[in-house]
Amino acid sequence: MAKYKAAIVGLGDIAVRPVAPAFDPVLGEEEPYSHAAAYALVPEVEVVAVCDIVPAALDNFARLWSHRWPGVRLYDDWRTMLEKEQLDMVSVVTPDHLHADLAVAACEAGVKMLLLEKPLATSHEDAQRIIDAVERHGVVATVNHTRRYGPHYRWALHQLRQGTIGQLSAIIGYYGGPRAMLFRNTSHMLDVICMMAQDDPAWVAAELDKDNQDYGTVYKGDGGRDPAQDPGAEIWIGFAGGLRAYLSALKTNPEEMNIRLIGSRGSIILRQREAELELASGWRVTKQSAPLERFSRSGEMAAIYELIQIYETGQGTTQCPPREAYKTVRLLLGALASNAAGGARVPV
Ligand SMILES: NC(=O)c1ccc[n+]([C@@H]2O[C@H](COP(=O)([O-])OP(=O)(O)OC[C@H]3O[C@@H](n4cnc5c(N)ncnc54)[C@H](O)[C@@H]3O)[C@@H](O)[C@H]2O)c1
Repeated sequence: MAKYKAAIVGLGDIAVRPVAPAFDPVLGEEEPYSHAAAYALVPEVEVVAVCDIVPAALDNFARLWSHRWPGVRLYDDWRTMLEKEQLDMVSVVTPDHLHADLAVAACEAGVKMLLLEKPLATSHEDAQRIIDAVERHGVVATVNHTRRYGPHYRWALHQLRQGTIGQLSAIIGYYGGPRAMLFRNTSHMLDVICMMAQDDPAWVAAELDKDNQDYGTVYKGDGGRDPAQDPGAEIWIGFAGGLRAYLSALKTNPEEMNIRLIGSRGSIILRQREAELELASGWRVTKQSAPLERFSRSGEMAAIYELIQIYETGQGTTQCPPREAYKTVRLLLGALASNAAGGARVPV
């Protein structure tokens, strides 16, 4: 019998997508992308309940996953679910602006581990409520800023900590395409910048995509669906220790992501699924790709194992506790405030 009982709330694609077969059957399947696919590979956890307010989403979950968890109970109200189930772990996979009430209630209901989708929240108040509840109830929590658990990004962080490129002096990135939406997806880029800076952001200056001068200082999106309500942005960040980062995340940029970590002896270039080291000497550059080793854990699966390990040992912190993920929320809301102030630097 599994040691821990889990529930998934919000049954969109990132919650339920089944694993796809690899391009060659010899390789089995691709690594899990969704919460359900990750839980399915962790024998310590049984998904005992799921919740969505849309009946078709519940039906879809049952169709895709009831073979794996035949007894799973389907709820259309997470309050009822929290009352009836004795849950150890909850995945919060509701839309971007609907994480806080559920996360706080789960902490109050005695849930021990939380896997929260990003961004942590879309307002300071909601972010603060989650941080307070998690810390007050001693819940082990991580925010699924996926790259924190991605091998190439962890390789880059390891190189930085080893001093391979010397002292980090700047971070420059770009991101684009129709879904370069500030809260929904650019939040990943801002989180990578915070992860690599290993510092607290002090100020931000930003301009949103054109025609958004009057967007205002409050998130106006619908949780991540309609790109029109969640613009792109150009963002300039100052960290407390003096490091600067610049990110161009406009919808008119190419549909690609790229972050360059610039150090005193070279750079690391991070892309969606690869990373490269460039060491400079006398105008010559030596290049080296991140090793393509395979690991037994990455993505949501690594996050789930990390939650369990920290819960069981009482030691350590997750890769992205809510207080760490709040840095990105501060930058997102700071970007709106700066845009409203004509691109001025604003403290975050
Ligand atoms: N980490 C990643 O790479 C990644 C990728 C995709 C999405 N996400 C995040 O996951 C979250 C969900 O994204 P999505 O694309 O699946 O969104 P979605 O809108 O497609 O699905 C969200 C689901 O939540 C349900 N829901 C809404 N309110 C609810 C409530 N009160 N109780 C129960 N269910 C409710 C909706 O009916 C819907 O089925 C977002 O925060 C998003 O940013 C993260």
